[in-house]
Amino acid sequence: MVQETHLRVSDLIAPLFVHPGTEPQIPVASLLGVVRWSVEGLVSECAALKALGVPAVALFPVTPPERKNPEGSEALNPDNLVCRAVRAVKQAVPDLVVITDVALDPYTEHGHDGVLDPKTGDVDNDATVALLSEMSVVQARAGSDWVAPSDMMDGRVAAIRGALDAAGLIRTVILAYSAKFASAFYGPFRDAVGSQSAAGRVYLDKRTYQLNPANAREALKDALMDEAEGADVLMVKPAGPYLDVIRDLRAATRLPIAAYQVSGEYAALHAAAERGWLDLEAARHEALLGIKRAGADLILTYSARAMAEALRAR
Ligand code: PBG
Repeated sequence: MVQETHLRVSDLIAPLFVHPGTEPQIPVASLLGVVRWSVEGLVSECAALKALGVPAVALFPVTPPERKNPEGSEALNPDNLVCRAVRAVKQAVPDLVVITDVALDPYTEHGHDGVLDPKTGDVDNDATVALLSEMSVVQARAGSDWVAPSDMMDGRVAAIRGALDAAGLIRTVILAYSAKFASAFYGPFRDAVGSQSAAGRVYLDKRTYQLNPANAREALKDALMDEAEGADVLMVKPAGPYLDVIRDLRAATRLPIAAYQVSGEYAALHAAAERGWLDLEAARHEALLGIKRAGADLILTYSARAMAEALRAR
């Protein structure tokens, strides 16, 4: 009777990887229980998630190396893998909210979220924003319900909103990765989509555009800029190490807040549980409940399906 916070299936968003081949599932070694789906496999997983009550999925494509280049131009191809996946999922499961990622990292040879300035070698903010705006329109035309810029360029939310509206896509929602930190917890994701491989053994350094993990005030400033530019939902990422940022943002905005329990958070729990050092079900529930308690309305988690099944069995 006095429990203050409840985790519900309708809070969950499932991030899903899709690969271009026909193999129904290819495991991701560093994410126990997570696979890369073929488009066909993805459609049946989406139907299963919807049947469990999970309201939304976030799609991440694996681009074959021969389709990558320095400009990430495959991102603008209306027939690219993610667009084909969106069309297939929306056709089979129309009521499931489909979210697509807006950033160039799955498409660039160098694995960065934008195009590089030839003089400095750093990501060129404004040139990238122009490409991301086009990319959002391409994805929304394919049927994506929510576009989710995960790139952290300055000014991209306003540019994307403008481009969507100009194309008549006025109902497309913008889920902005607003407080996204330059985190060590993204490693397994970069293996899954293959964005790390270009950088070799050195962990890809995105500190010119992602936030310093030490800076909570700067995170709020960036998130409120996204709100002012027209974002519909604000995201904090990673989730577990940044509960204070979720809490602060909850007090600072009236928008819904999403939090992303990222690949490294998932991998850490699962690796410990595999060694018998943690009770997976209990630790998973507690980690997600903590994110909710901090103030998140929505949680992206690779545990969405397992959590939905556990909540249903209660
Ligand atoms: C990049 C992107 C990243 C994730 C989602 N989109 C990582 C990065 O900045 O390289 C990470 C998600 C995860 O670790 O689960 N656009």
